[in-house]
Amino acid sequence: MYVCLCVGATTQTVCDAVERGASTSKEVAAACGAGADCGRCRRTLRAIIAAARELEPSPAR
Ligand code: FES
Repeated sequence: MYVCLCVGATTQTVCDAVERGASTSKEVAAACGAGADCGRCRRTLRAIIAAARELEPSPAR
């Protein structure tokens, strides 16, 4: 499913960025471009980041 229409980023693209270490919407934007344009998808990005954290707690916590 598309999360960010501005850059055509999908849920998978964002999940990959989170897996590679992005932990904020800014870092996701830096990693794959999602959220870097109009910003309408940032809420969704944050929800994906939060969900990913619950599934795979990072050792840093
Ligand atoms: S929809 Fe993601 S930046 Fe516009």
